[in-house]
Amino acid sequence: MASPGSSAPGRVAVVGSGLIGRSWAMLFASGGFRVKLFDIEPRQVTDALVSLRKEMKTLELSGYLKGELGAEEQLSLISGCSDLREAVEGALHVQECVPENLELKRKLFAQLDKIADDHVVLSSSSSCLLPSKLFAGLAHVKQCLVAHPVNPPYYVPLVELVPHPETAPATVDRTYALMQRVGQSPVRLLREVDGFALNRLQYAVIAEAWRLVEEGVVSPGDLDLVMSDGLGLRYAFIGPLETMHLNAEGMLSYCDRYSEGMKRVLKTFGPIPEFSGVTAEKAMCVKVPDDAEHLAARRVWRDGCLMRLAQLKRQLPQ
Ligand code: NAI
Repeated sequence: MASPGSSAPGRVAVVGSGLIGRSWAMLFASGGFRVKLFDIEPRQVTDALVSLRKEMKTLELSGYLKGELGAEEQLSLISGCSDLREAVEGALHVQECVPENLELKRKLFAQLDKIADDHVVLSSSSSCLLPSKLFAGLAHVKQCLVAHPVNPPYYVPLVELVPHPETAPATVDRTYALMQRVGQSPVRLLREVDGFALNRLQYAVIAEAWRLVEEGVVSPGDLDLVMSDGLGLRYAFIGPLETMHLNAEGMLSYCDRYSEGMKRVLKTFGPIPEFSGVTAEKAMCVKVPDDAEHLAARRVWRDGCLMRLAQLKRQLPQ
């Protein structure tokens, strides 16, 4: 087993040590990077270090720890930090993970802008705030981008890289390479768009799922099965475009055969749902009651499934 130390590939700063910051810390350490974990609440950093230790030891025991290094070596690469400047100075990449609030993030990026040298990449984990809003007016805007992970990032490797109109191509390239190095699966958006790519797809699916349940076409349980025992199995390995290609004699043949039917059905889609009322109350709580205990247990089950699927995907030829 390799050992960490002076050969470590560099240092990363993670700003915000909640759910997502902790996952990023684990991922960067799995790639051999030294990680400084900062939070405005020092207690959050202390708690993060304790929970990371527990999680990485458990992962090691079950054989699911990522990277070449053992848990103890990876843990030795992660340290807490109570000073933002100290966390950022000398880092090659800063991954911001503070709550999804535009004003809060803008304030933080203004601080980072003052500390940053001309080389560090300043990256936000934002789920849906546009880079043009987040990074407007920053001196180091060329070094800024959004790198949006998917929860839980340790098991779901996709990261959407979304540039500001002034982001330098080299910033995106470097972040792309870094994500690959820590085992993530980066995709580049060539320009920003509200919802990025993942949430635009996700919201399209959620909206039609909601309409089908609201209109009494299918029960909530059966609707979810359409995805988990149907489309979802395929989508774990190939996307919608490749699906089209393989479901006929190539893409042109698919369009030739099915485009009229697709357009006919698409014209019947209803308006944007309100996402409230009776459907919201009855939709899900039958299968998994919405109290904290049931939700937590189901999330543990989900993460275990995702962990196994991630391992299977790594073993299979792509
Ligand atoms: P969280 O609430 O678990 O953690 C946020 C952390 O930031 C807290 O520890 C808080 O003390 C700290 N913080 C607040 N202000 C700060 C400041 N000025 N400087 C340093 N630390 C500060 O939030 P979570 O879920 O980790 O989300 C972080 C970001 O990741 C958000 O932008 C969110 O949209 C994004 N994200 C979240 C996903 C999720 O499913 N939770 C998935 C993908 C992205």
